Amino acid sequence: MATSPSRGGLFGRVKPLDAILATAEKKGLHRSLGAVQLTLFGVGCIIGTGIFVLTSVGAQKAGPGLMISFIIAGAVCVVAALCYAEIASMVPVSGSAYTYSYAVQGELLAWTVGWALLLEYAVGASAVSVGWSNYFTNSVLQASMGIDLPAWIKTGPLIFGGEPGGLINLPAATIALLVTWLLVIGTTESARVNAVLVAIKVTALVVFIALTIPAIEGDNFSPFMPGGVFGGFGSGVGVLGAAATMFFAYIGFDAVSTAAEETKNPQRNVPIGLIGSLAICTVFYILVTAGAIGAAGGAPIMGADGAPLSTGSEALARACALPENAQALVCSGEPLAHVLRQIGFGTIGNMLGYAAFIALPSVVLILIFGLTRICFVMGRDGLLPERLATVHPKWKTPHVVTIITGSVIAVLAALFPVGQLADIANAGTLYAFMMVAIAVWTLRRRDPDRVRPFRVPALWLVAPLTIAGCLFLFLNLPTEALIGLPLWGAIGLVVYFAYGYRKSHLGLGLVEVHEPEIHDIDPSIPGVDERDPLDPPRRPPGL
Ligand code: ALA
Repeated sequence: MATSPSRGGLFGRVKPLDAILATAEKKGLHRSLGAVQLTLFGVGCIIGTGIFVLTSVGAQKAGPGLMISFIIAGAVCVVAALCYAEIASMVPVSGSAYTYSYAVQGELLAWTVGWALLLEYAVGASAVSVGWSNYFTNSVLQASMGIDLPAWIKTGPLIFGGEPGGLINLPAATIALLVTWLLVIGTTESARVNAVLVAIKVTALVVFIALTIPAIEGDNFSPFMPGGVFGGFGSGVGVLGAAATMFFAYIGFDAVSTAAEETKNPQRNVPIGLIGSLAICTVFYILVTAGAIGAAGGAPIMGADGAPLSTGSEALARACALPENAQALVCSGEPLAHVLRQIGFGTIGNMLGYAAFIALPSVVLILIFGLTRICFVMGRDGLLPERLATVHPKWKTPHVVTIITGSVIAVLAALFPVGQLADIANAGTLYAFMMVAIAVWTLRRRDPDRVRPFRVPALWLVAPLTIAGCLFLFLNLPTEALIGLPLWGAIGLVVYFAYGYRKSHLGLGLVEVHEPEIHDIDPSIPGVDERDPLDPPRRPPGL
């Protein structure tokens, strides 16, 4: 089906919302999810490397003030989540923020959003792979089996912030490739597996809190904010710098909003699911941080200028290699297991390490899955080569895009430290969230009467707060992330004008309402998932 597109100037290529909604209507899903299911799903998507690994990075930036950083990052996520929920329930189609932007802000800005989402998912998946590698090499191999891998195969090079002697993080690259392979052969996570993994993660955190809170020593909270509140533009340190980094720990809640169309009574249940899962995670994060720093101490290692050494810097890597810092929380790559060992619960610490080892790959899977689907939708719109959307004849998966993106993720994971990767992923995500808030706000004014299964209360306040909050966190990221996003954006614009602008289906006068394109697939093949692989699900695997 084709309707007449807007083909005006550079900003005039806007995809008609009705065309997008016609797609969604054809695929109306059964509304079966309640508030509790939605909340649990959110918790499963959110908890990952952020709390299990980045806690030590955050402590190096903020010290005990990290608890406040979690509250700040969580608050920005709550308002962003509300905006997401309105547009997701109203435009329930795949492609998330990219598709919303296409309908409201036009092709050029939608392209920048899609391009930023690619950064979020790819670099985010690399970050989680590196976090997994830390638990694998320390808790599983070293502490449990006595196998100590040499530095050159377990961490990236020193110049990128790895350990002295580091060259390549082989376990991180391997897990990224392994997950990529699972996705190529069509594995998605079943709801039952997801439930088990959520239970493992939550149990690990509950046990951690139960053992560390009684061991808290008040002195460990003083000084409370050794890095100050604001460490300086581009420094990435202080309570605000840590908030910008720990934002990573909340990424994933947008999955709840994308499940809006399958939710019973979305006006009530979507905000409960979103805010409930964010609130639960915030409480967990604060208690885990309090327990970790209170029990084991979390003082940052300071530089000669009296400020905390930058995470991912060579100076910090060298300081952490000194014997006197061998036990410092801020130097640990597996901080939660490390703290438990410090306070005399070595075996339970190792078990927590196993919990992270088992549960974190599913976060990598959700992120790579999301990435391939965004590429897919962009390819379907003609903005990326359609060849990317080639479907494997046997496995019925978009294997080309999955293999390409998985390989890039593996290379990033092999070379860079988790904190740097998380900061860069955050930059892309914050941009996308900001654009979603602008889209929701614009659409309310432009099209006030359209049916909205969920309406953000007090949007006049929530939308500007989201925009300001995202900008604020972005400006508190370290220099490499501040520079990384515009640089990535500039590359994106070159790609757009060299390719997408000319090949865009909308630009060519086509607005497609996508039918399932399975004519080349025989769904009767036994054992084959009958879901159209060209039809990206509107929720990630596992729900
Ligand atoms: N929030 C997810 C994590 O912390 C991405 O791993």
